[in-house]
Amino acid sequence: MRVLVTGGAGFIGSHIVTELIGRGHHPVVFDLAAGGGDVRDAGAVRQALAGVDAVCHQAARVGLGKDFGDAPGYVSANDLGTAVLLAEMAGARVSGLLLAGSMVVYGEGRYACAVHGVVRPGPRAVSDLEAGRFEPRCPACGADLAPGLVGEDAPMDPRNVYATTKLAQEHLAASWARATGGRVISLRYHNVYGPGMPRDTPYAGVAALFRSALARGEAPRVFEDGGQRRDFVHVRDVAAANAVALDALEAVRAPEAPATPHRPDGGPGFTAYNVGSGQPRTIGEMAAALATACGGPDPVVTGEYRLGDVRHITADSARLREELGWRPAVTFAAGMAELAASGADVP
Ligand SMILES: NC(=O)c1ccc[n+]([C@@H]2O[C@H](COP(=O)([O-])OP(=O)(O)OC[C@H]3O[C@@H](n4cnc5c(N)ncnc54)[C@H](O)[C@@H]3O)[C@@H](O)[C@H]2O)c1
Ligand SMILES: [Zn+2]
Repeated sequence: MRVLVTGGAGFIGSHIVTELIGRGHHPVVFDLAAGGGDVRDAGAVRQALAGVDAVCHQAARVGLGKDFGDAPGYVSANDLGTAVLLAEMAGARVSGLLLAGSMVVYGEGRYACAVHGVVRPGPRAVSDLEAGRFEPRCPACGADLAPGLVGEDAPMDPRNVYATTKLAQEHLAASWARATGGRVISLRYHNVYGPGMPRDTPYAGVAALFRSALARGEAPRVFEDGGQRRDFVHVRDVAAANAVALDALEAVRAPEAPATPHRPDGGPGFTAYNVGSGQPRTIGEMAAALATACGGPDPVVTGEYRLGDVRHITADSARLREELGWRPAVTFAAGMAELAASGADVP
């Protein structure tokens, strides 16, 4: 298939390009950085879509921005950009879209109280954090909550401008699917890591900081008690998820394909999949794995905290495994060792 990969010069996009070539597809990179074009430029997008079978939309402004003044820039790149791309796809009758979704649409993770079941804790209290009580508490009884896995049907709760633009991309894509009969798969990536990872994103930040501390011969400094749970998924596994999702889009295009199942979380034509390793790890474990791989000093747990940090967020990626047969192949230990060795962009 000929696939337009927007953001194809970026961290994840470039791994997707490699993966697609390996599977005999013909990726076409469209990226601001590579001088290939801006997704907000309708004329450039129209040209790039010529002869294309599907679009893999990775282009986005990633990160948290400095302050709210950055909001128009994020909305422009991510949402106006997606709208222009979708309008041109409608015009060119390109009916398959893979979208780079994100776990940030969920906000906090999923929590259960032993007595009250699944609950939604509010922000953690400063008094708790000061006292070293880092686990969120049940809003009904104040007990510590047990973290669970977030499924695709969890309520949407974007907590910053970037997260809001990622959610809006999904809504725009679902609207496009309804209006045009197109089909969208949104892959909600969890914390993607691996060679080439950018430094200043909400996903990469901490791994990059640990790695640069180790490169200076210093111990990685782990906030809170190090028990914050995340799902680190390797970039090559994410690229492979894109490849299997592309096959699924293609299967739906084929005349003998079964009817698209209705999805409560997006409507017909739209399916979201979490993309995580399925093996939650703590920030403390990540620091230890990187320290071991670098042969550096053991991590130091500092008890410091940042207000607004999410305590736990981990995906349930069962839908992707069961429906599309995807399996992550890179183990945590091997992936962290590779990351430690790929020190090229250490600050
Ligand atoms: N890195 C993660 O852990 C993670 C997690 C969840 C979702 N995502 C999503 O994955 C996608 C890729 O992220 P990444 O980590 O590879 O970031 P990245 O910054 O390395 O890649 C993004 C690419 O998009 C390009 N781009 C930005 N604006 C553009 C525009 N207007 N027109 C054309 N190209 C443009 C950039 O030049 C860059 O090459 C993004 O959509 C991001 O929101 C990333
Ligand atoms: Zn309770």
